[in-house]
Amino acid sequence: MSVVDLKVNGVSRRVDVAEGTPLLYVLRNDLELRGPQFGCGLAQCGACSVLVDGKEARACILSAADVAGQEITTLEGLPARWAKQQGLPAAADQPLHPVQQAWIDEQVPQCGFCQNGMMIKATELLEQTPSPSVAQIRDAFMDGPSPHLCRCGTYVAIVAAVQRAAAAMAKGKKR
Ligand code: FES
Ligand code: FES
Repeated sequence: MSVVDLKVNGVSRRVDVAEGTPLLYVLRNDLELRGPQFGCGLAQCGACSVLVDGKEARACILSAADVAGQEITTLEGLPARWAKQQGLPAAADQPLHPVQQAWIDEQVPQCGFCQNGMMIKATELLEQTPSPSVAQIRDAFMDGPSPHLCRCGTYVAIVAAVQRAAAAMAKGKKR
């Protein structure tokens, strides 16, 4: 066992884990953050994704020790991340991140299993490319080097939700 200091959703968390324990297990089992899901365990589906220093990472293959000290954001931390980016104070009743709200408004999820990774990917995409084209969205989720798999086939709704979130984020940033 070894002690690992993590920074998750803006909070420092110390965990005592066996060497090589995947970040996903620490998030779900030790920190009770159940947004990230275990899908393939092989970095191929994206269900387990989190942001590490703003980049999407597959938590099933990263060891917790590998990301010690880096900024980890899970689905649960997206509202606070958005508030911080707008210069708003952290609050218990933080509104949802525009990506999460767009996912509700477009009724994207079907079974829901993959959707953690979809929203994490959308957040990464929109932070890097605030107004992506349909081709860029398709590249991020489907056609690029690290696709996200959805067995329910929600991709059409995902494109619409990313476009809706992009508009909301652009509006939010002008405030
Ligand atoms: S569970 Fe991590 S990519 Fe599939
Ligand atoms: S919503 Fe069911 S796998 Fe994507």
